[in-house]
Amino acid sequence: MITIDSPLDMHLHLRDANMLKIVAPLSAKSFSAAIIMPNLVPPITTIEAVISYKNRILDATSKYNFEPLMTLFFQDSYDFEFLQKAKKHIKAIKLYPQGITTNSANGIKSIDSKSLQMTLSAMSELDIPLCVHGESDGFVMDREAEFLPIYEDLATNFPKLKIIMEHITTKQSVELLNKYDNLFATITLHHLLITLDDVAGGMLKPHLFCKPIAKRYEDREALLKVALSANEKVMFGSDSAPHPIDKKESCGCAAGVFSAPIALQALAELFEKHDALENLEKFVSLNAQKIYNFIPNKKRITLKKIKFKVPSQYADIVPIFANSELSWSIVA
Ligand code: NCD
Ligand code: ZN
Repeated sequence: MITIDSPLDMHLHLRDANMLKIVAPLSAKSFSAAIIMPNLVPPITTIEAVISYKNRILDATSKYNFEPLMTLFFQDSYDFEFLQKAKKHIKAIKLYPQGITTNSANGIKSIDSKSLQMTLSAMSELDIPLCVHGESDGFVMDREAEFLPIYEDLATNFPKLKIIMEHITTKQSVELLNKYDNLFATITLHHLLITLDDVAGGMLKPHLFCKPIAKRYEDREALLKVALSANEKVMFGSDSAPHPIDKKESCGCAAGVFSAPIALQALAELFEKHDALENLEKFVSLNAQKIYNFIPNKKRITLKKIKFKVPSQYADIVPIFANSELSWSIVA
């Protein structure tokens, strides 16, 4: 048995409308709070949109003690005055390169410290963390590595800006974390468990297809090393990104792995397998509290070694590891 105080998911897609009503309670059951991604259609770019989306999430999760930590979708027009007003409604701002992933058409075309000077210096001054989807538009296996010079540019030119490298997937990204005090990262469950072989090495597995794509064995090793040791530069962010079954099992599969309802159970299994259960609370809660400098709602989640059969679907959404058995269950 293991008890975790206030588990946090620092990168979560909850979508909207009916999908929100299905998926949000599944996260709210396991987690105390989560950083909510703003890539709706249209994206969340105003304070009004943040507030009304937050209220829709609170409505959908009213049975649970769950705090949605809201974000804005980065625009290079955000100035100090706007961000000063926005600050009390958001925990971070998420920057997407234009067109690089689901619902990022309104993202930024050229990402560098000069063109984004106004917004990034205001964020730095106001202590608003910058979350980044760090991928270039190059060859799919190289996209994250090709983006690293951009992280270096931003980290060097805005040394007080907290920069979160979202869902890192490579050994090179892990190494970069050590070079800059202001760089941090989220790591997903699926990138700790799978490689490209699982996605495309045999029969194609659409439910494992996501951005960034899972990489090589040595990359997974590097991610596992920092996650299992709960290195203070990294924290859990599921990047649980649900799409309806017809958008996944189709010609033109949408990117995104749906892991929210099984994430904590699967993490317990993984940490136990590597004899690292004592570090799980740091990875899923304490590190994020330090990085984001906040104290979440108190919520104790107890997991027990009881077999848990992952459902084949939650409504029309297929979770990762559908129909398979995990060795840990949430009991309270
Ligand atoms: C995410 C989504 O579907 O919104 N997809 C994904 O593959 N991770 C967007 C993202 O985080 O890139
Ligand atoms: Zn995401």
